[in-house]
Formats: sequence, C-alpha cells, structure tokens
Amino acid sequence: MATEGIEAVYVETHNWGRSARFFQTLGFTLEFETDHNSGQLRNGDGPYVFIAEIPEEREPRTQIVLRAPDDLDLSDVEVVTPYEETHYGTREMTVRDPDGRLWIVQAPPEDRPVTPAETPDGTAVRTALWRALHVQVDAPPHVLEDEVGLRLARPGDGWRDRPDMDARFTSGFRASMVARARLVEDLVVEQAERGVTQYVILGAGLDTFAQRRPEIAARLQIFEIDQPGPQAWKRQRLIEVGYGVPEWLHLVPVDFETGEDWLKQLVAAGLDPDRPAVVVSTGVSMYLTRETTAATLRTIAGFAPGSTLAMTFMLPIDLVDEADRPGLTASANGARAAGTPFVSFYTPAEMLGLAREAGFTTAEHVPGRSFGARYFAGRPDGLRPSSGEDFLVATV
Ligand SMILES: C[S@@+](CC[C@H](N)C(=O)[O-])C[C@H]1O[C@@H](n2cnc3c(N)ncnc32)[C@H](O)[C@@H]1O
Repeated sequence: MATEGIEAVYVETHNWGRSARFFQTLGFTLEFETDHNSGQLRNGDGPYVFIAEIPEEREPRTQIVLRAPDDLDLSDVEVVTPYEETHYGTREMTVRDPDGRLWIVQAPPEDRPVTPAETPDGTAVRTALWRALHVQVDAPPHVLEDEVGLRLARPGDGWRDRPDMDARFTSGFRASMVARARLVEDLVVEQAERGVTQYVILGAGLDTFAQRRPEIAARLQIFEIDQPGPQAWKRQRLIEVGYGVPEWLHLVPVDFETGEDWLKQLVAAGLDPDRPAVVVSTGVSMYLTRETTAATLRTIAGFAPGSTLAMTFMLPIDLVDEADRPGLTASANGARAAGTPFVSFYTPAEMLGLAREAGFTTAEHVPGRSFGARYFAGRPDGLRPSSGEDFLVATV
C-alpha cells in the first residue's frame, strides 16, 4: 500500500498501555511516550501511529492524518477548523470531503527563524542541573526527584565536570534548590487539595512540575511566566522531548523589567482573576530591581482573596552564615560574569515590609535555615542547605 501523503494514524484509547502493547505486538516500535498517557509508535518508514488516552465517557476515534504541503489551494475545500499550531510542533486543520467525512491535514510548522534569543536562561539551567545532581549523587531519600530539567537542558556529557556542579563545593546550593522546589511543590499540592485550581509560576525557567506531576497538574490551570526567548526555547524542547504543551499549561512570555502588564497577559492566556491562585517565584527576585519586585508584589496582592504567594529572596551577605559566605561570593561573581548579576538583596524585615505595603493580608518569613530540620534531618551524608535565601509566604 502506498503511504505517501499519509502522515499518521491518530488513535484514541481508553487505556494507553494496552493500546501501545497491541501495536507493538503488530511490529510497531515505541518512538516516545509522554508523561500524560500518550505516545508515538512506528513500523519501518511508514506513517506513525499516535495513541492518546481519552476519558472513559468519550467514544475513542481513529483518524488518518494526511500530509499536506504549505501552499494548498483550499478554495474548493470545506475547511472545518483552519490550521492551528499543535502542541507537538506541527500545524493541523480539519477538512470535510465530498461525502461528508472529516480528515485531519497536517503541515510542517510555520517557517519561523529561531532567533539567537531562543536559548535557555543559564541560571535556570543551573538550578535544573542541581536538582538532577541531587538524584544522581546524593543518597536516597531524595528531597525532590527531578531529572526532567536535565533532559530538557540537554547539557552534554561533561556537565557534571562544570565547576558549578562540583558535588562537594556546591552541595549547600544543591540542597537549597531541592528544598525550595519541595516547599513550593508541597504548597501547590496542599492548595490544590483545598480547591485552588490556578497555579502561576513567575520566572519558571526549567520548572518541571507540569511534566513530573501530571496527575495533579492536569487538574490545574498552570501559567508559566518567563522571558520570551528562554520560554520559546523551553516550548520547543518540551515538544522535542515528547511532553508537548497540554491545554492546561500556558506559557506566557513576559519580561518583568519592561513594566508590561503581565496580569493582563495572564488573563488573556486564561487566568480567571476572580478565583484564587497559588503564585510562586523562586530564584528570581535577586535578578530584578526593587521597584520591579515591589510592583510585582502589588499586582499579586490584587489577586482574588484566598490566593497565596511563595517567593524567595536573597539575604545581604552579613545575614548569611559565615561558612556559606565564600560560596555565595563565588556564586555572585559567577552570576555577574555570566551577565545575570544579583542586583537585589533583602533583609527579612524589608521583604515583610514590602509585602505589607503591597497590601497582602498576611506575610510570613520562612528562613532557608529551617529547611535543614524540615527536609534533611538525620541524613548520614550531612547534606544541608546553605543559608543565603529565604522565603516570603503571603496571602491575599
Ligand atoms: C534562577 S532561574 C529560576 C528558575 C526556577 N524558578 C527555579 O527555581 O529553578 C531565574 C529565572 O528567572 C527568569 N527571569 C530573570 N529575569 C527575568 C525578567 N526580567 N522577566 C521574566 N523572567 C525573568 C529567568 O529567565 C529564569 O528562568
């Protein structure tokens, strides 16, 4: 059978695992599996089969996906839904044939030159690699298991030889990164259990909650804000690695320093401003001016009542434990050399003051030092977070 012109067969199922095994028995090989019960199989050079699990109450469909060139003349064709970008990096439309059948037509993504700005943010890659290093070099139990960021970052074989990945010298930072991510994750799970359905991540970087915890994430609307270039890169990598960008994950490009109205952009992306949200920002405020952070806090304080913010801030060096100061100084020097200097440090009192001025109902200081007892107690390897970064937890 000639298969030119047939791009794929799209198969819906009520059980992804069983359906994938069925096609494997027929000689298909798994090309990739996503974290949300779907995946792609292929047999030789023929069309691929894309299997997607759907809820029990929906009737599973099968559809042939036709391949189309870019320059189709559609004047005589009934287009049911015009070309739209898919979350897996193509464009698709639905057309009706003369007998009334629907066909999916797939075209390559619009030719869009990749700009040099579409590269990952180095600081976000570093924190993602530290999270992966925790799994790879520290003994279980792990405070957080996250190697997805490593897969997205694709740093190359020698990444563990980087000076900032020195397992011993940077162990305190590594522990801090996993502790702060864990605190946020615990908070989001707790808020989701209390019925909050919106999760906003400011300066999300290589945050991978959506990919690692799809069972919770898919019940939320998640909004990731980050700088446009690094975010475009992340979108591309999510597609390439096979996670895609599901409809509940909204990537909203914003540069906080331009003063643009990011709340308006969140609302345009689907945030309901009348319902509470959990808002987090980890490892971002030190890169922003005080004015920008104050304005950001004012915006969040205007979210619906019941909203919660968890935001980290860096302490002035004289409030950092003496043992941690050389590491922090090296880290600040590295950040400056990389073009992403730390520009803002806050005492806990200053940060609480900013939160109160912004209009939050409650504002609490959670010291980074408290993470030792909370997440690392009794570890024989002595892994402990360093002391330079604290949390503001505030409610609207
Ligand atoms: C150290 S990373 C932290 C990433 C992630 N939150 C984490 O904890 O791993 C800092 C993040 O802040 C983002 N960022 C820095 N300046 C920003 C700005 N002006 N507007 C938006 N995002 C910014 C960077 O792109 C990066 O993703």
